[in-house]
Amino acid sequence: MPGKKRFKMEIKDVLKHPVVLKVTDDVNQELLERRQYAPPVCKAFSRKFTILQETDQFKFTVDKAAQKQLPNIIDNRVQKIEGLKTADASFAKGYGKKRNIGIVFSGGPAPGGHNVIAGLYDAAKKANAESRVYGFLIGPDGIIENETLELDDDLVDAFRNLGGFTMIKTGRSKIDTREKMELSAETCRKLNLDALVIVGGDDSNTNAAFLAQEMFADGVQVLGVPKTIDGDIQVRDDSANVLCAMSFGFHTAARAFANAISNLCTDSSSDVKYWHICKVMGRVASHLALEVALQTHANLTLIGEDLADYIDESRLKKAREEGAVDFHAYGMTLRHLSRVICESILRRAAVGKNYGVIIIPEGVLEFINEIQVFIIKLNTIIAEHNQTHDKDFHAAFPLLEDKLEYLRRLAQRSREDVSFKLWHTRDDDLFSDIPAFFQEGLLMERDSHGNFPFSQVETEKVLMDLVKDYLNILKEEGRYRLGIKQAYFQKTLARADLDPDAFGPLLFENFGQAEFLLRKTEIISVKTLRQSLEKEGLLKADDAIPAAIQKIYKKSVPSFKTQIHFYGYDGRGNDPTRFDCIYTYNLGRTVFSLIANGATGQMAAIRNLEKDFSKWEPIGIPIAPLMHLEERKGKLALVLEKSIVDVNSIAFQVVKANREKWLAVDSDGDHFRRPGPIRFTGKSEEERPITLELNALADPDD
Ligand code: FBP
Repeated sequence: MPGKKRFKMEIKDVLKHPVVLKVTDDVNQELLERRQYAPPVCKAFSRKFTILQETDQFKFTVDKAAQKQLPNIIDNRVQKIEGLKTADASFAKGYGKKRNIGIVFSGGPAPGGHNVIAGLYDAAKKANAESRVYGFLIGPDGIIENETLELDDDLVDAFRNLGGFTMIKTGRSKIDTREKMELSAETCRKLNLDALVIVGGDDSNTNAAFLAQEMFADGVQVLGVPKTIDGDIQVRDDSANVLCAMSFGFHTAARAFANAISNLCTDSSSDVKYWHICKVMGRVASHLALEVALQTHANLTLIGEDLADYIDESRLKKAREEGAVDFHAYGMTLRHLSRVICESILRRAAVGKNYGVIIIPEGVLEFINEIQVFIIKLNTIIAEHNQTHDKDFHAAFPLLEDKLEYLRRLAQRSREDVSFKLWHTRDDDLFSDIPAFFQEGLLMERDSHGNFPFSQVETEKVLMDLVKDYLNILKEEGRYRLGIKQAYFQKTLARADLDPDAFGPLLFENFGQAEFLLRKTEIISVKTLRQSLEKEGLLKADDAIPAAIQKIYKKSVPSFKTQIHFYGYDGRGNDPTRFDCIYTYNLGRTVFSLIANGATGQMAAIRNLEKDFSKWEPIGIPIAPLMHLEERKGKLALVLEKSIVDVNSIAFQVVKANREKWLAVDSDGDHFRRPGPIRFTGKSEEERPITLELNALADPDD
């Protein structure tokens, strides 16, 4: 072909070319810089030794079951970690003794996990170069099966400041039977472990407490580290003093989602034709959605916890007038929620904006009464089946139809036996009305902790299908219409030599009264348009509708186009923000201090995360006193409480107060914020999550 240079080199020679070698190398500049970065350490860790100061400053109401089941660690107190320049010989000997330490990741990945390992490894080796750190492979199964990897400098250095849990992988299994406990204890004995560190969420830290109790007699210390992008491990004492404001990984995941969603805000306000529906991870709690709302100012963000509080005043009023009580007025239904979304879409359309961005937390269904009831009932049905049968529920009923048949049999049983209340005919009828893909979602296999797999359910589809249905109705009623700018209408008609003042009052319900003109609701088709024009004498029966009028009509008819996105796994694998790098490295150092000072059953944490780094305070939080009874797999079990969004928190109130502004129902542009990509260096890299900063305003300096 003319104008094209011929490719003369053989591909095998091309591959050896230095430019090709450089640009195709797995190691790039960003990676090198990340690996080389040394996070600063809290003041206490700049000393040769650290000691623990137990404090009674923080009080917890202890659950009786925790007292009974965790006697050896229930009296633990909060421990503050302090630096020590010098120490007497016996302390120094104990602190610097050769140790074997095991560490495991449990649950979903969260950016910063590798730095927890790095912080622990560096501190352990600094205290005694002969100490050994083992990584248990692929989660708790690695402990049960004694699958380990001994960590060395090369391995740890290769993963410093990098996202994911790739170094030793992770898994969701749980050490929840006697046999698994014994196998785990045996592994610890075989490796001659002094300490076991469990980096995980609420369930994994619960597991850490039980293991600490189990291995207390063997002298194996068990410590937890609060991890999860969901941000639902937040610890306060009885007086609401904050001990752990946020689990690690939350900031990075939120920033990663926010960057991607903010790009969609830019795209959607550019080509003005799509509604982008963004589901974001977070399991039950909407912390991530809230943070992303603050980061991006997306047009509409649903917060599950807010929906649960909803009271339908109009239903209550109606019931009062009828002298009745309407329990359905409390909490939101799926249908009602879809109406709320439609209302926002309609209002934007009225000012000519048939586009936008909606954020839906993946766990929103948990806060919708009718769905929550199904989730709880089905959790119990599945758990009871698994307890009484050899074959697990999903193996026994592999197909949806089999599962539905089983539910039908339960409904039948409820008709024959009044004492059986788990699944009524009404439940079965309501369940049959749900689309098959959603039924399948609700019946999905629970994880080893009994958690409902929100990430697998197409929540956004369920909601948006209802939204689309309702928008179609509103369109037929003429209420879903695009506002036409008065100036544009005038210009278009003037060009066609038509009198805007003659046609305007006929076409629009607010002609001359507003910047955006709203088509009359009775004009819902070309046919009804013609009828109206004829009726007012602006068109004769055989004449064609003027092209300019047709154009205006067509412009006022919106088509609702969506693009669906799911943000979750991408954020978990993102390289950590500088905040998460520093936070996690110091968590690693904290956990070593707890180990070196003989603690067990404690969770490493850093206080004052919202303040300047110089005020960060490493501490150990007792896990057992935080535990309470909760329904899991159909039974009451001792667990660490998940924290959900507090609708009275400053962060939520700020989002609520800005809702109207961010919906941008006016002729101005939108109010999107551009958080930008996660940068490792540079001034624009924000220092900490916005929710953390806002909520800290409620806790002035102590
Ligand atoms: P953890 O609670 O284990 O940190 O996991 C968080 C999470 O990312 C949730 O946001 C999400 O619902 C879930 O994991 C997805 O689980 P899986 O990795 O099993 O698909």
